[in-house]
Amino acid sequence: MKNFKLPRLTGGLLLAGVILPVSAVQAADAEAIIQTKCMACHTQEQAEPLEMSRMSHQRKTPEGWLMTIARMQVMHGLDVSDEERRTLVKYFADKQGLAPEETAGARYALERRLNTMESFESANFEQMCARCHSGARVELQRRPAEEWKHLVNFHLGQWPSLEYQAQARDRDWMGLAFKQMVPELASNFPLQSASWDNWQKVTKVPVSGSWSFSAQMPVKGDARGVMTITGGKGDQYQVSIDGEYADGSALKGSGTAIVYTGYEWRANLTVDGVKMRQVFALSADGAELTGRMFETIHDEAGMDFAAVRSGSSPTLLSVQPEFIRAGSTQVLTLVGTGLGKQISLGDGVSVVSEIYRDDNKVVVQATANNKAQLGPRNVDAGKATGATLNVYNNVDRINVVPSFAVARVGGNGGSTPKYNAYFQAEAWMNGADGQPDTADDMRIGYVPAKWHVEPFNEQAAVDRDVHFTGRMDEKTGVFTTAGAGPNPERRMSTNNAGNLKVIADVMDGDKALSAEGQMIVTVQRWNNPPLP
Ligand code: HEC
Ligand code: HEC
Repeated sequence: MKNFKLPRLTGGLLLAGVILPVSAVQAADAEAIIQTKCMACHTQEQAEPLEMSRMSHQRKTPEGWLMTIARMQVMHGLDVSDEERRTLVKYFADKQGLAPEETAGARYALERRLNTMESFESANFEQMCARCHSGARVELQRRPAEEWKHLVNFHLGQWPSLEYQAQARDRDWMGLAFKQMVPELASNFPLQSASWDNWQKVTKVPVSGSWSFSAQMPVKGDARGVMTITGGKGDQYQVSIDGEYADGSALKGSGTAIVYTGYEWRANLTVDGVKMRQVFALSADGAELTGRMFETIHDEAGMDFAAVRSGSSPTLLSVQPEFIRAGSTQVLTLVGTGLGKQISLGDGVSVVSEIYRDDNKVVVQATANNKAQLGPRNVDAGKATGATLNVYNNVDRINVVPSFAVARVGGNGGSTPKYNAYFQAEAWMNGADGQPDTADDMRIGYVPAKWHVEPFNEQAAVDRDVHFTGRMDEKTGVFTTAGAGPNPERRMSTNNAGNLKVIADVMDGDKALSAEGQMIVTVQRWNNPPLP
């Protein structure tokens, strides 16, 4: 243990440094744990400030650190309590985390958007490093060449069959890994970066306060409300949300949260009896929290979430719904903070009456005349801006979102739950050229649809995948998978996996539109690491 000597108070002067900040206490705790628990296998390279072999030469996300330390426990026999592990993850994520810019392109992995289709410029990277796990797992780390080299060695040592697998036995995997991948990784994802140097100098803002939020969730649609955050000692907070869905039903819950690296918000809440998790990033100015809130066990059920701090500069987060048809009248809800009296919906769209107003939302009856300019337009509520309203007169096509999804069988007495799939129908209008798929096409927004599934191909038809893989809810677009395990009714008693077309039918007035996506229903999610 380190021995802290407190300076003597003189002349009634209160020195800011006298009371150790909580972070320093936590750091001392973490370093004590490292010195007692990690020394058995790692060496101390420097005492002051503490530097240890391997662990002092990499940076990663809280989830990344959690996975590494969990591996020390599971594979190498490290003995730490859950409490000690939490202290270590906090310490490493704060001291050797990633700057906001460094996580920007890969947050989908932290947010558990597991249907994301990754694509990388480097075919080498894709085949060498993004075939067993996501490429995001790699992009969310920073190391010098030496440490990327150790990582390759660790892969080969831990999974010796790696070199005999597809996309490895056709090449000199080890040679390529050391000669090409290591330099490529060290240059794309280096330990030292200007972003990280700058981020360490930024004064971190506490997140306590009142936040106005806007969210969108499959099945339930738009949501909004207030998130209240209190506490902050040791970057730990209490959080509660009090909101409503567009249909008026309540969205209420509470829990605890922790902020890592000055901006990585992670909360565990119970919302309407269901355990949920929030993975948000705090914006550099401390005014916005954005990310995803999802069910802890069913991460496929989640909502896009954005919140703005009450009292920060006036901001409009969203207009709900985000579209209006030219020649129609409907209720619009504006969500944000500092919403001014003067609501401007742009030429041809006007407020008929204001129905409700508080600090975080304004509900208006709005009308769009037949000649209103088509397309997205900025909406203002006094000084509050930032959201658009899409004016359309015609739906030209529908997209199924996600266009490709993976659902998994589960349950049935087994250890892993089912992972279902959630689909939404997204309406689009062609741009001024009247042609589809050009840059001026407008995304209108999500619209109600009638859902069903069909066999994806002939094999799926022969195997009766539609019958065996699960059930699509016609109204909601939720596909619930069938039970896990062999099914004696299927050919060779195979499991309930299959390959399906997901079809949305939408009526726009009396015009029928249809769209198609694909869903693979596959085996259980045996392995569920914090980062895919
Ligand atoms: C029982 C031995 C053992 C203990 C105890 C141990 N480690 Fe490790 N550690 C290893 C081995 C072996 C490796 C290299 C293989 C690997 O990465 O799994 C390693 C690698 C690492 C790495 C590099 C991982 C990577 O992805 O490159 C980090 C970071 C690390 N350890 C942190 C810790 C911390 C922090 C502790 C104490 C809380 C700890 N280790 C305790 C054996 C141990
Ligand atoms: C044969 C499958 C496979 C391939 C190929 C593969 N990985 Fe991994 N990788 C794994 C597994 C499994 C883990 C999880 C280890 C654990 O339990 O922590 C992992 C973990 C990682 C981690 C997290 C390690 C930590 O503790 O921080 C990184 C980073 C990583 N891999 C990068 C790469 C890179 C870079 C390549 C290409 C050179 C690569 N992987 C190729 C299977 C693979």
